Amino acid sequence: MKRRSFVEFLGKGSLVSLVLNPLLVVSSCKSGDKLHEVKVLFEALNSSVIVDDVVLSEGFTYQVVVSAGDIISDKDTFGEHCDFNALFPIDNSNTEAILWTNNEYYDRVTLGTSSSLRTKEEIDKERYAVGGSITKIVKDKDGLWTFVKDNAINKRITGETKITFLWDEEIAGCSIAEGTLQNCSGGVTPWGTVLTCEENYDSQYGEISYLNGKREFIPSYYQWEKHYNHPPEHYGWVVEVNIHTGAAQKLVALGRCKHECATVVGLEDGRVVVYSGDDESDQFIYKYVSKYAKDLKEGILYVADVNNGKWLALDYDNNKLLQANFENQTAVLIRVREAAKLLGASPMNRPEDIKIDPISGDVFVSLTNNKLIGDYHGSILKIVEDTADKTGDTFRVETFLMGGAKEGFSSPDNLVFDNKGNLWFATDVSGRSLGNGEYAEFLSNGLFVVPRSGERQGEVIQVGSAPVDAELTGLCFHPDGKTLFVSVQHPGETSLDINNLTSHWPLGRNSIPKSSVIAITGNFL
Ligand code: FEO
Ligand code: CA
Ligand code: CA
Ligand code: CA
Repeated sequence: MKRRSFVEFLGKGSLVSLVLNPLLVVSSCKSGDKLHEVKVLFEALNSSVIVDDVVLSEGFTYQVVVSAGDIISDKDTFGEHCDFNALFPIDNSNTEAILWTNNEYYDRVTLGTSSSLRTKEEIDKERYAVGGSITKIVKDKDGLWTFVKDNAINKRITGETKITFLWDEEIAGCSIAEGTLQNCSGGVTPWGTVLTCEENYDSQYGEISYLNGKREFIPSYYQWEKHYNHPPEHYGWVVEVNIHTGAAQKLVALGRCKHECATVVGLEDGRVVVYSGDDESDQFIYKYVSKYAKDLKEGILYVADVNNGKWLALDYDNNKLLQANFENQTAVLIRVREAAKLLGASPMNRPEDIKIDPISGDVFVSLTNNKLIGDYHGSILKIVEDTADKTGDTFRVETFLMGGAKEGFSSPDNLVFDNKGNLWFATDVSGRSLGNGEYAEFLSNGLFVVPRSGERQGEVIQVGSAPVDAELTGLCFHPDGKTLFVSVQHPGETSLDINNLTSHWPLGRNSIPKSSVIAITGNFL
């Protein structure tokens, strides 16, 4: 089977004619091409149907754990557009856990809000859709994970939740912000809290610009400012959430940008190092080193100069250039992109997820793409710190993987290492780009693994593909290594209206597509 036909077989718009075999296995036809060797397990399909499902390699299966809109308690429903997942086993149990899930944004077509009216009711509906969801999940005797409705653990953080700033000075005149939004990826602290990152915050409350020397407001895409006049400075932060109480605080010390992730390394003395990428073309990679144990308020924020292998300190008190251009450290952190550029940070190709190799300690960064400079398929970068504890200010980099048609993947986004150090990653080509132009070869987004050892060591092997228009994200292994939790985000996102849906996943037939967290089980490496 040629690579292209394999992708078509899996992907959006593909027409497949299959014998009605409940466990049809498609296997390789050509040796030497890694993608061709992937075996795919399909459920029974009618002839001439569009594949609109999570399709997995032979030996893997999936089930839906929780979907957008599911009633989790008498007050709350599970949020929209699930992304980052973090799992906290209860009392070290393998069958009971608290699941944190980011709820990044929403589709107005399926949420039922309009692009034109922008009434307060519509915006309130959107404000409730985002943030994060906390659910208790359990595994039954058949191995199926389900959420426990009405459990006291279940709660929501939303675009309406009041959240304090962890900072001594006010941010744009306030010590409390209203809501968190565009919660993309995140991290987990050694003390068991979640870090959830506000990525494309300008879509809801706009942005500020100092291009002309004074603060100017740039309106948002979703126009929430029409009914809620909140300053853009209140968004774009990493937010720490106590998953037991739902209490949250915005971590000013980590800077304000389109934070994709916040990956925490705990040091022996209790301090932490936090890596974060700013997901926009030509933006930067950051590293925060805490001054004290268990502290995310006082520390040094650095930005990467990749060309010279230097972490540049964004430290107002000790930098004359910052002193000449900003009022104080608070201004540096609020306008961290400008400060980073001023110091000579290296523009990157949209830094997305960052994960630490559990064996080597190296830092892996997915650079999803950068269309501005003709990088359509992205790469995965490896940062090797010169100091073992990662607190030093020098490092070296190398490219670990390049995306592209030949390599069989485009636009890497979420990363995760399993317990054996195999790297898993998922791709994110937007629904509108899939199958078009530079992405003609890519009809669906995928899940991939790079084995650390064995015959196929270092190969990129596709093990899954997403439903129509969707991406697979929020990759999170249960600590026992037996289940991989994955968010299936934005199936059917190119639907023009509710009567012309491009996906009906996961319920099928004529149902509305729902972003959902799934549990994948099977023969992990
Ligand atoms: Fe929400 Fe950069 O992905
Ligand atoms: Ca992402
Ligand atoms: Ca995305
Ligand atoms: Ca992405």
